[in-house]
Amino acid sequence: MSPAFEIESVIQEATINEKISLLAGKDFWHTHPLERFNIPSIRTSDGPNGVRGTKFFGGVPAACLPCGTGLASTWDLELLRKAGMLIGEECLAKGAACWLGPTINIQRSPLGGRGFESFSEDPYFSGKLAGSYINGVQSKDVVATVKHYVANDQEHERVAVDAKVTERALREIYLLPFQIAIADSAPGAVMTAYNKVNGTHVSEDKRLLQDILRNEWRWKGLVMSDWFGTYSTTEAFNAGLDLEMPGPSRWRTGIANLAVSSRKVTDETINDRVRNVLEFVQRASKAKISLTETVRDFPEDRKLNRQLAGDSVVVLKNNASVLPLSKDIKQIALIGSNLKNVAFCGGGSASLEPYYTISPYQGIIDKLGKDTAVHYEIGAYSHALLPILSDGLTTPDGRPGALISFFADPPSVCNRQVVDQLSIREAFFQLMDYRHPQLETLYYATVEGFFLAPATGIFQFGITVYGSGNLFIDNKLVIENTETQRPGTSFFGKGTAEEIGEVDLVEGKTYHVRLEFASSPTSKVLKPGVVAFPGGAGRIGTALKINEEEHIRRAARLASENEHTIICVGLSKDWESEGFDRQDMDLPGNVSRLLSAVVEANPRTVVVTQSGTPINMLPWADKTTTQVHAWYGGNETGNGLADVLFGDVNANGRLPLSFPRRNADNPAFLNFRSEGGRVVYGEDIYVGYRYYEKVEREVLFPFGHGLSYTTFEFSDLHVEKTRVVLKVTNTGGCAGREVIQLYIGADEHASRISRPKKELKGFAKVFLEMNEMQEVIIQLDRFATAYYDEILAKWVNEKGKYKVLIGKSSANIVLEGDLEVEETVVWSGL
Ligand code: BGC
Repeated sequence: MSPAFEIESVIQEATINEKISLLAGKDFWHTHPLERFNIPSIRTSDGPNGVRGTKFFGGVPAACLPCGTGLASTWDLELLRKAGMLIGEECLAKGAACWLGPTINIQRSPLGGRGFESFSEDPYFSGKLAGSYINGVQSKDVVATVKHYVANDQEHERVAVDAKVTERALREIYLLPFQIAIADSAPGAVMTAYNKVNGTHVSEDKRLLQDILRNEWRWKGLVMSDWFGTYSTTEAFNAGLDLEMPGPSRWRTGIANLAVSSRKVTDETINDRVRNVLEFVQRASKAKISLTETVRDFPEDRKLNRQLAGDSVVVLKNNASVLPLSKDIKQIALIGSNLKNVAFCGGGSASLEPYYTISPYQGIIDKLGKDTAVHYEIGAYSHALLPILSDGLTTPDGRPGALISFFADPPSVCNRQVVDQLSIREAFFQLMDYRHPQLETLYYATVEGFFLAPATGIFQFGITVYGSGNLFIDNKLVIENTETQRPGTSFFGKGTAEEIGEVDLVEGKTYHVRLEFASSPTSKVLKPGVVAFPGGAGRIGTALKINEEEHIRRAARLASENEHTIICVGLSKDWESEGFDRQDMDLPGNVSRLLSAVVEANPRTVVVTQSGTPINMLPWADKTTTQVHAWYGGNETGNGLADVLFGDVNANGRLPLSFPRRNADNPAFLNFRSEGGRVVYGEDIYVGYRYYEKVEREVLFPFGHGLSYTTFEFSDLHVEKTRVVLKVTNTGGCAGREVIQLYIGADEHASRISRPKKELKGFAKVFLEMNEMQEVIIQLDRFATAYYDEILAKWVNEKGKYKVLIGKSSANIVLEGDLEVEETVVWSGL
């Protein structure tokens, strides 16, 4: 039910201070209420592959969907709409009427820390997927927030970096996903990016926030800042930033009142901002949210999530027809650290406490009969930080996990009082949204538990903190991370590097583990371009020290003895996270050497990789016969993967990104970090396949690539003015889904400006039984032949002949037709 307040009367009657209070958050996740006018507070929640709720640690468990690149690999608009409906339901259960997603930035480089969150290197594709996802979310009356508007494509110095980008690239590549998503789904909110674009922070950029978003695109909705991404009072108000998040406000306090009384900001501007906030509140209030944060996790959600995970899996190579695997086998070798350590989600604000996770190991053995002998070898570790301590950890009163006790005083104070105590499932905590009335900004916490050693040997323990901390095992100091701190990557870039200590443990014995932590004001790590957050954070990791040479040899021997071998390796949220970019595309530690050894020992090995963005496969890719890429698949990671490996799902995922051979081949290679405060988008519109094709650079796996267990034939292409019709027939041995990709190629020589060889301008996905044929129609919209003309400051569909290219990837075109634009058309708007 809409709350009973009338927007214009609030604007008439509220005091200036009341109005200003509405223009910033109340706390970390909620907008400010005004009881006098019956204006409720609206809860927001991340985004973009689930709904975390209001707690960054010890949160209410949630559904976790595949990461952005995984969802995009389905190439399935209808499925994305259903995924959005699930997100909408999860929002309702978590009491959130506003969802902070989807992320629709562009993967300029394989190294972007948040690349996994966004959909694709192709802007048209991203925009279409976003539109469907948002329509699903908003069908539950939850407001979706597209983010991060715009050019937030790297993490390095993300709040300070100035993205230098031409108007054409800005329009055709970086703004286009937002433009299409807005046209297709009218999202209720837009979140501004942290960075600058061409000299101005987006949250202070009138051209981006008003001229383009509101005037040119005629979008009506709420513009909110990214968390701590409001940097001024006057400039942000005047540029069009409606809501500062999170609260309590830094900029919209007494100082805002001064800005109004000195007329640096007019009453009218304040009223416009208030109107947008109130319209948002009214719209969001229609969502039938739960009053408490609750769990759902119904069988039908699990089924949908499993389909999303399975349909996201991309079979890259199946040269020896090893896939699909038979379930009826005597023995199988399973190798690699990602089999049991489930990489289900990237890091940062996308991460959440999942209802459950199915590891690849579990998913695979569930497919096999009881009589199949399963042999496992880890081969080599792939963690960046020691895995978080959780297995074998119990609280002092015997519950799984650890106990965290909060104090206002440091450990040196005798008889200090515990002010709060919580149990946590694993030794990891982020306190930005944790508050307690008896705690100021500087406070202390003790994390303790009893660890049952799973083996005898030297164990490494590691601690990483934002704040400071010392680790004790059986009351003996093992790690000091208080006085001398080295900067690291965790906790949105605010954390220290991991400090490691070694302890001899005996299998079956229990050890007391205790971290003495002090909150963020005690941090000695200074980093430019990174936002501080309250409370601080910490994690304790541990692993048995192993001799990797020996383990690689064991893994290779196992592979040589087993005809059926699966190796599953890759990255995880340690490597791909908000807060930092990757240094290179390499797989961690000795993983590449492990892969080479295993593939050499058994070339029929099924190589499964996991990551949200491209990784270096060169050292071994030429030797593999069978390769599968599996992203971060959410709760159902292992089931989705196993469904494809064993053929219960006919492989139907297709890459939403090109996988280059080397990072140095990538068009952003020379321009991907903040240098001198800026990053030059020197590749211009030539992002991803647009570049690789233009300069004829070979990639390892092209955009759109992915195999099926059946074959499809495309025929009878018929191009009309506004649509393309063709026939698709399943000519192989089983039912399956196929993706039809439509690219438009402009005449590079006849055009007034430089054009890519081809650009994706439409796609469809069909399900066909064996021998079935279906007619497929793909509409052509105004973007099909358009480029953005910087002199006219308008879109132009230039008169001339274009190729219509129907492909199975950007590099595998199977049908060609002609399209003629008879008259040049110039346009602007949505
Ligand atoms: C991220 C946003 C997120 C917000 C709230 C920021 O650090 O950039 O994507 O929605 O935090 O968690």
